Amino acid sequence: MAKGTRLSGSTLLITGGGSGLGRRMALGAARRGSRVLVWDVDAAAGAAVRDEIRAAGGQAEAQAVDVTDREAVRAAAAQAGPVDVLVNNAGVVSGRRLLDATEEAIERTMNVNVLALYWVTRAFLGGMVQRGHGTVVTIASAAGMVGVARQTDYSASKFAAFGFNESLRAELRADHTGVNTLVVCPYYINTGMFDGVQTRWPRILPILGEEDVAAAVLDAIEAGRRKLVLPPLVNLLPVLRVLPVSVFDRVMDVLGVNRTMDHFTGRKGSRTGEPLG
Ligand SMILES: NC(=O)c1ccc[n+]([C@@H]2O[C@H](COP(=O)([O-])OP(=O)(O)OC[C@H]3O[C@@H](n4cnc5c(N)ncnc54)[C@H](O)[C@@H]3O)[C@@H](O)[C@H]2O)c1
Repeated sequence: MAKGTRLSGSTLLITGGGSGLGRRMALGAARRGSRVLVWDVDAAAGAAVRDEIRAAGGQAEAQAVDVTDREAVRAAAAQAGPVDVLVNNAGVVSGRRLLDATEEAIERTMNVNVLALYWVTRAFLGGMVQRGHGTVVTIASAAGMVGVARQTDYSASKFAAFGFNESLRAELRADHTGVNTLVVCPYYINTGMFDGVQTRWPRILPILGEEDVAAAVLDAIEAGRRKLVLPPLVNLLPVLRVLPVSVFDRVMDVLGVNRTMDHFTGRKGSRTGEPLG
């Protein structure tokens, strides 16, 4: 087991901390004694989480940051100072078939879910390496382990996030930096990002509760875990790739994975940059 980072007394920065899973992790980390820095492109949402934490007696700051804007990330990081835990959580989805998605929505998914990982992590990693401690968390997805219909942009971006974490982990270990990484791959969570999705087998592939996922991530950071897959069954899905493609596809059909997005509505257009029809 790698070295965990105690949340009590630490500084934890979370991107996309203004809503959903990010908000839950921010509130939970503050309860465990972290000073929490909330970054969100939605200034009002980030400020509301800051105020919620302060009202409960915790320590928090909020910065309105678009994580795809390299200059803004650099400036905000200089203002934020050193952090012990970085949670790369901001994410978007278009949720359309490849031919129905706009080019802008596809580009946005890649910018937020992939390229921003580089800009934000590079802004804080040097300090962690220098201090010989810290944890970089990448919120990927089960969709980063198996491709899902109507998620060509999202799945590809989360495969990239998964690969980003794995390469970074290798690099940090090879250089004996003492900095840990954690990748998180949840199936659907009830945050509203995937409103309308349905699961065929809720007992084995449930729609997860955002509070449970947030608590599991915070536990994993403290325990020094390097991978968190929820529910654990999802860990088996990529293993099926050793089988012929026809068998792999058949298993996905039986599990209903590629029908989950049939009734997807999304929470609101702001998540995709365009109104969802
Ligand atoms: N909801 C799910 O089913 C699910 C499943 C697996 C993984 N995830 C991942 O969990 C993470 C959190 O998702 P969520 O479900 O809480 O969604 P959410 O939409 O509730 O939260 C995402 C947050 O990211 C912020 N954001 C978007 N673009 C940004 C940008 N350019 N700069 C800064 N902030 C930005 C949004 O304002 C929002 O507050 C995402 O990475 C998502 O891909 C979600």
